Amino acid sequence: CLSFPVFLSSFPPSSPSFPSPSRYSIPVAATKNKVRGAQGQVPIVQNMTVTEGGIANLTCRVEHNDNTSLQWSNPAQQTLFFGDKKALRDNRIELVRATSQELTISISEVTLADEGMYTCSLFTMPVKTAKAFLTVLGVPKKPEINGLTKPVLEGDQITLTCVTSGSKPAADVRWFKNEKEIKGAKEVNASGKTFTVKSSLQLLVNRHDDGVAYTCRVDHVSLTATHEETTQVLEVHYAPYVEIKHSIPATLEGQYLKLECVPHGNPSPDPVLWTKDGGELPDLDRVIVEGRELTFMSLNKTDNGTYRCEATNHLGTSHAEYKLVVKDAPTTSSPSTTSPSPTLQDNTGPLDSKDLNSAVTGNRDPNALPGPPDHALIGGIVAVVVFATLCLIIVLGRYLARHKGTYLTNEAKGADDAPDADTAIINADGNHAHAEEKKEYFI
Ligand SMILES: *[C@@H]1O[C@H](CO)[C@@H](O)[C@H](O)[C@H]1NC(C)=O
Ligand SMILES: *[C@@H]1O[C@H](CO)[C@@H](O)[C@H](O)[C@H]1NC(C)=O
Ligand SMILES: *[C@@H]1O[C@H](CO)[C@@H](O)[C@H](O)[C@H]1NC(C)=O
Ligand SMILES: *[C@@H]1O[C@H](CO)[C@@H](O)[C@H](O)[C@H]1NC(C)=O
Ligand SMILES: *[C@@H]1O[C@H](CO)[C@@H](O)[C@H](O)[C@H]1NC(C)=O
Ligand SMILES: *[C@@H]1O[C@H](CO)[C@@H](O)[C@H](O)[C@H]1NC(C)=O
Repeated sequence: CLSFPVFLSSFPPSSPSFPSPSRYSIPVAATKNKVRGAQGQVPIVQNMTVTEGGIANLTCRVEHNDNTSLQWSNPAQQTLFFGDKKALRDNRIELVRATSQELTISISEVTLADEGMYTCSLFTMPVKTAKAFLTVLGVPKKPEINGLTKPVLEGDQITLTCVTSGSKPAADVRWFKNEKEIKGAKEVNASGKTFTVKSSLQLLVNRHDDGVAYTCRVDHVSLTATHEETTQVLEVHYAPYVEIKHSIPATLEGQYLKLECVPHGNPSPDPVLWTKDGGELPDLDRVIVEGRELTFMSLNKTDNGTYRCEATNHLGTSHAEYKLVVKDAPTTSSPSTTSPSPTLQDNTGPLDSKDLNSAVTGNRDPNALPGPPDHALIGGIVAVVVFATLCLIIVLGRYLARHKGTYLTNEAKGADDAPDADTAIINADGNHAHAEEKKEYFI
């Protein structure tokens, strides 16, 4: 580092080859360090904010200058440029414009170390200076998500952490679960001039987290109109649960019936195993098994029994049962004499039996469906009559109340007409009997 000797003599103004007046790179503070000296011969500068790696243009202006030299020096008080003469050997620092009214230099590939107070000096007697603070923004690194094992087992508690370093000022770190923001625990550590920001998320993993994307997003003032983000998709392994779907609710002899075993689980439990009454399935001419499906082309009473479907993955085994009771084909249909209907028993996995029950289709008792219609009809009529009566009573009650109110007001009217309190009481008393009469009438 060599410091340029400061001459108090004037340097010749630089060539007028620059076409347009220069502008500040990123003027942050609009206010100018403007101190009016004699003849307005004072340097004027502006504070600046530049993103790491960018270019900072340092401009110093003098409104009225008599060819007195301008100088820029850095926070370490080293002279950078004296007029158009370069003083510090640093390839990143270049002259943009040097006239008697302006000295503009540029610092490219700005680093955090360039931050500080820069001074522009005007070598009048005495020397006048103006100070500009150069703020350098540290760009946050792409966030990293840690703490995720693949796959995760259902019921495991995991802590996802998202870390981004290098930001200045400290970056904002946010978590999103499938686009929806969720709150994490933030922690900020300073390391040198920059900050390391960490946000952690504690999750109790369940099967619904399978395939869910967790995104960590970093917003920062240096990332204008954009942001950095990293996404991890959870893969959750869970023990199977099984449901059986059937094609018809009631089972009569000769009917076609298809049972479908639907196993849920990750890894997917495949294939499924069908059994009847704890043993082998009957002949293939009675029942057709195709993967998850069990089909009876024509039901027969000999098909009675409990059919069970079993599914297994490395986390466990689960099964569902279907109790088949084949009834006589209806000769004369009489709904009141139905024999026990097919019921479905679900033996779900250990974890989520509630979900299953709601997911099973056709898990209704067919006997409940054809309810006696006469009772419902009568009930409806009674309800309507009761409601109408209630309405009538309310309307009548309001009507009576209103009329009673009117008469009481009339009674008090005597007071309005009276010239004094005594007369008012007399008037009121006089009307009292009349009002009483009316009240009795309506009550
Ligand atoms: C700095 O000044 C030069 C010359 O006027 C200009 O080309 C450049 O765009 C400026 N840089 C910034 C970051 O404003
Ligand atoms: C500045 O210097 C130039 C060239 O040396 C000269 O032509 C000009 O008159 C001077 N201006 C003032 C105000 O002294
Ligand atoms: C420039 O920045 C410095 C340091 O941050 C501050 O003290 C000063 O007030 C600022 N000047 C203006 C004009 O904003
Ligand atoms: C921050 O600092 C604390 C204490 O020095 C340390 O325990 C923690 O791990 C640090 N966090 C990060 C994100 O560096
Ligand atoms: C049911 O099976 C028995 C014995 O296999 C047979 O005799 C009968 O005809 C079958 N009934 C129907 C409705 O298919
Ligand atoms: C099947 O169940 C029905 C209804 O309980 C019964 O009437 C019939 O005898 C049963 N048939 C066989 C073969 O078990």
